[in-house]
Amino acid sequence: MAEQLRPLIAGNWKMNGLKPSLAELDAMIAGAGNVTADLLVCPPAILIAAAAARASGTRVAIGGQDCHADASGAHTGDVSAEMLTDAGASAVILGHSERRTDHGETDAIVRAKAQAAWRAGLTAVVCIGETQAERDSGKAKDVVGRQLAGSVPDGAAATNLVIAYEPVWAIGTGRTPTNPEIEEIHGFIRSKLDQNLKEHGARVRILYGGSVKPSNAAEILKLRAVNGALVGGASLKASDFLAIAAACS
Ligand code: PGA
Repeated sequence: MAEQLRPLIAGNWKMNGLKPSLAELDAMIAGAGNVTADLLVCPPAILIAAAAARASGTRVAIGGQDCHADASGAHTGDVSAEMLTDAGASAVILGHSERRTDHGETDAIVRAKAQAAWRAGLTAVVCIGETQAERDSGKAKDVVGRQLAGSVPDGAAATNLVIAYEPVWAIGTGRTPTNPEIEEIHGFIRSKLDQNLKEHGARVRILYGGSVKPSNAAEILKLRAVNGALVGGASLKASDFLAIAAACS
């Protein structure tokens, strides 16, 4: 049985937010004092430096949503892990299903990006999850197991890795798996982490992501197998994000 880990509530702003949106971050920082969970906010890359300056010295950490595997070079439009660190980020989301779909990111690419994240001193938040068709055909565990094995490099530990289980069909749809469905996949991921990472496996946090909102957060976050949440739409408003974080306690 895994020990109780300190929950992490991570917000993925995706391609949302302009400079005025940093007022929401300010409100999150102001409300973070009452929260026991770790908080991570991942704004668009162009806002990271400003966000990190505001969050410096507070309980809110700032992360990126992607990085290139190389440290620098001729990759127009890309952002390296070193650039994220330089801008003040401490973590990066990798292998989000939108990147896997929109940008054809394979497990091997995600794995290379995770290595880049570690090279730059960032925690890799590696996303995995099945599509509706994969779940319907009984392949959810196969897919998640394959993504986990292919996307996480050797050398993973609780200090450099977070796993986010995000069923693709639950992202932005308002639909969520049942509690037993979440527990089944989280338990499966935990058993694989235990196998692959030995004593480190029990301490890597496994977040649930996909349509987490204030109204369902308590029910999901009370599950022992769930060590926090990766929140998309509901992370754009400080009141929603803080309400989700408060549901951890
Ligand atoms: P959602 O997105 O909370 O809007 O469903 C979650 C995610 O994609 O990380």
